[in-house]
Amino acid sequence: MSVRDRWYQDAIVYCLDVETYHDANGDGVGDFVGLMAKLDHIAGLGATCIWLLPFYPTPNRDNGYDVCDHYAVDPRLGTLGDFVEFVRAAEARGLRVIVDLVVNHTSDQHPWFQEARDPDSDRHDWYVWSDERPEDHDEGMIFPGEQETVWTYDRKAKRYYLHRFYAHQPDLNIANPAVRAEIERVMGFWLRLGVSGFRIDAAPFLIEHKGLDEVPGTADPYEYLRDFRTFLSWRRGDAVLLAEANVDPEKAPHYFGDGDKLHMLFNFVLNQHLFLALARQAKAPLERGLLLPPKPPEAGQWATFLRNHDELALARLTEAQRDEIAEAFAPDREAMWVYNRGPRRRVPPMFDGDAARVRMAYSLMLSLPGAPVIRYGEEIGMGDDLSLPERTAVRTPMQWSDKKNAGFTASDEPIRPVIDSGPFRYQNVNVDRQRREPDSLLMWMERAIRARKEADVFGRGDWHVVDTDHEAVFAHVCERDGVAVAAVHNLGDEEAGVTLDLSPYADRTTLDLLDPGDDAPPIEDGTLAVTLPRYGFRWFRLERER
Ligand code: NOJ
Repeated sequence: MSVRDRWYQDAIVYCLDVETYHDANGDGVGDFVGLMAKLDHIAGLGATCIWLLPFYPTPNRDNGYDVCDHYAVDPRLGTLGDFVEFVRAAEARGLRVIVDLVVNHTSDQHPWFQEARDPDSDRHDWYVWSDERPEDHDEGMIFPGEQETVWTYDRKAKRYYLHRFYAHQPDLNIANPAVRAEIERVMGFWLRLGVSGFRIDAAPFLIEHKGLDEVPGTADPYEYLRDFRTFLSWRRGDAVLLAEANVDPEKAPHYFGDGDKLHMLFNFVLNQHLFLALARQAKAPLERGLLLPPKPPEAGQWATFLRNHDELALARLTEAQRDEIAEAFAPDREAMWVYNRGPRRRVPPMFDGDAARVRMAYSLMLSLPGAPVIRYGEEIGMGDDLSLPERTAVRTPMQWSDKKNAGFTASDEPIRPVIDSGPFRYQNVNVDRQRREPDSLLMWMERAIRARKEADVFGRGDWHVVDTDHEAVFAHVCERDGVAVAAVHNLGDEEAGVTLDLSPYADRTTLDLLDPGDDAPPIEDGTLAVTLPRYGFRWFRLERER
């Protein structure tokens, strides 16, 4: 197999929530027809894969992560017919689609759970029950402050059920073969409708055995991931599994296997160290964050991201490190921080709207190892709305134009308010406006993504850090099959001059990848001297003389 077949290793993923993207029928809720009208925006940006957040029928008490039918589209968002049309329209533009697979838990409104509440029903064992409330019932809560326990009493069953997340999200019993078979049916269903894989929600909890210790045949929870993979690959050879697993670095190999388990993992460890480096304006934490996670197997890949639809989860850092990030990026901790874990903010407000710093951060995201994942709104530098509860702050509707409701909906009642005050209000920050301005973030992002695709060695090459003798300036080189690229980033707010030792490339010429018209400094006597403005960055191709 050619490495080129491993499309996911070079993917540029664009993540969105149909509900907040674009509303075509004017009911205030985004829908698949609205999304289809915006596919050229996503393709034009240079994305190659769309990751859809849950779009299934739901009481919507956890942004759709509380599913009550895994085989349907939420009627507010459209029909299955619309979904298939969307997948086809995406495909016609070279865009693959992956969807969230939420099977650690269901909504308590799911018919499975409603049936399971009868202890005599066959469905009862689909969930995890206990006659007594376990002593450690308040350990392992995901939403401290919002949750008081992970075992809640059900009056009908007269037993306690396990829920890692909110009480309205009972955990499925993964040790039950009938549940595993159903999960395969769910995957098989969406694969038949054309998806190229799944983002596996809450992967560590999905496979955990809390409450299931006594179940025979489930000794190694990670083994289940191999079954997952085998099933997926039989049904569709080029489909992928991308796991949400915010775990310690030494656990990652259990998820990747030898390339025979999950294809991709979000690089949460790198993400958290990157934010520490940005907060400190110092490269050391970033270098550490790159070195801590293991190298993925040949067929594996990291997914590299800055922000997602949740809080910026900083659980892998120390308390003191979290405090540093709070001080820099969420000074009003009361308003800006959730679950004792991290900021509920988007990137530009954390940087006080400093355009140079925002670009530098995205330049890092695009040039660090892994496949970049961009979240809707990041391409235009959208802000957050701290008046909204919990994580909703970062889930406001996409800002398309300066028209009513940012062009998101014609309705007077958008599902969520659009941001209409402060520096990130839609009148200032929107797609239409940035398309007209050559120097806008959107236009820069398009150019940067194009450059990143032309230099995909950044994503999956062998990389090494290059010393810069400067605390704030991070430099690295990536190489594969004789192609080499280098990137230099100034994390600090002062101009910095550095000299890189590139002696292994002494015979090569340099080409500026981001601004091909710019004169790139030459490598002289094996060294490259670069001066960067505050928050400046450059990417170079190191070319052999023809
Ligand atoms: C992880 C998702 O990213 C988050 O938004 C959700 O609340 C939990 N999983 C529960 O499904």
